[in-house]
Amino acid sequence: MSQLAIKGGSAAAEPLKQVKWPKLYPEDEAAVLQALRQGYWGGIGDEQSPNRKFERAFADYHDAAYGTLVANGTVSLELSLKTGGVRPGDEVIVPAITFIASASAIVCVGAVPVFVDVDPDTCQISAAAIEAAISPKTRAIIAVHFGGYMADMDAIVAVANKHGLFVIEDCAHAQGASWRGRRAGSWGEFGSFSFQESKALSGGEGGIVLTNDAQLHEKAQLIRNIGRHTGQRAYNHYVPATNWRLGGLQAALLLSQFGKLPDQAEQRHRNALLLAEGVNRVEGLRSLPVDERLTQWGCYFFVIAFDAAAFGCSRDAFVQALRAEGVVWTTTGYNRPLYYEAAFSEEAMRPLLHESVPLPDYGQMRLPNAERWATSMVTILHYYLLGDRSGVDYILEAIHKVKQHVDELK
Ligand SMILES: Cc1ncc(COP(=O)(O)O)c(C=O)c1O
Repeated sequence: MSQLAIKGGSAAAEPLKQVKWPKLYPEDEAAVLQALRQGYWGGIGDEQSPNRKFERAFADYHDAAYGTLVANGTVSLELSLKTGGVRPGDEVIVPAITFIASASAIVCVGAVPVFVDVDPDTCQISAAAIEAAISPKTRAIIAVHFGGYMADMDAIVAVANKHGLFVIEDCAHAQGASWRGRRAGSWGEFGSFSFQESKALSGGEGGIVLTNDAQLHEKAQLIRNIGRHTGQRAYNHYVPATNWRLGGLQAALLLSQFGKLPDQAEQRHRNALLLAEGVNRVEGLRSLPVDERLTQWGCYFFVIAFDAAAFGCSRDAFVQALRAEGVVWTTTGYNRPLYYEAAFSEEAMRPLLHESVPLPDYGQMRLPNAERWATSMVTILHYYLLGDRSGVDYILEAIHKVKQHVDELK
């Protein structure tokens, strides 16, 4: 094989350099223009507005009864926490490996994040770790479907029911994912999604809260809309709340892009399985386990457990070499457990939490699986997993080339 691209050779996966996300289709332009012309600019809308149509379509596809469209996937978590009744000083359990919003949303509603460990094989929040962390102050669990793989929802729902807690699924990575045939976002009391531009379904920005409970839905609608019923013109406000609505033009873009999601989610699932098969043949690399309960692998990013000693070079050297070969959207993931973040120091959190609320000393925290994943994870974004298997083949070709020349990366 030719020289490594990072050493000046040609890239094994050159065509992947052209892959772009999000993808714009002509019907998206038409949909946004139509919303613009029809006057659907705002987020209140009527039953025919793109906002309401998207809520119905997305909830339906995700096996949920109701959807509340909001500005992004961070406030959708806050909305879920508030709607579920989390009060200042309550504790909410969250995995230590995730994007910061999963945990900072808890602090933003005045509650305390309790970080727990993830599973050593799947990198998903562990039901056993959740149960061990429950205290009299625990109110809810945020189960993140990390990377679009799914947390073990059978075990998590069982723990939540046993202890009278409610579950928010953070599905920011899991559009289209399903567990034993039932989609992400319909297992817990709430399913929270993000439609930020890198996501598998994107409107540039956006988020949604799904639920199967009519009362919770009603409450979520009020909290989204300054305490007012959606569509109501009168100035009647039933709870003190802010404005988390998404504008109509972005909803129109989302609704149009949503038309592609069912097919694209199947393609991602198929290609993720092929990539797992290829990756698991390479010494020093391991995919998340192929599990028949994961009936659709959402795969926002494909997670590889990287063993530097067995592969033959450092994780950073591997990632840089793979990027140079053309797999540009390769990263080292979130890099460190959230308890290290300055945002969770007492100094940073205290202004949002009542003085009487004791704060855990995160500085002392070391969760072994989270620590291991943070230092060994390599992620490849979903952008290459659409269509036939050619994206997978290019990724594997690039990986094999790097492996063959690994001595040059020491
Ligand atoms: C796991 C997770 N939760 C929540 C969010 C927040 O979503 P948004 O960026 O739409 O606020 C993200 C965003 O990337 C995420 O990855």
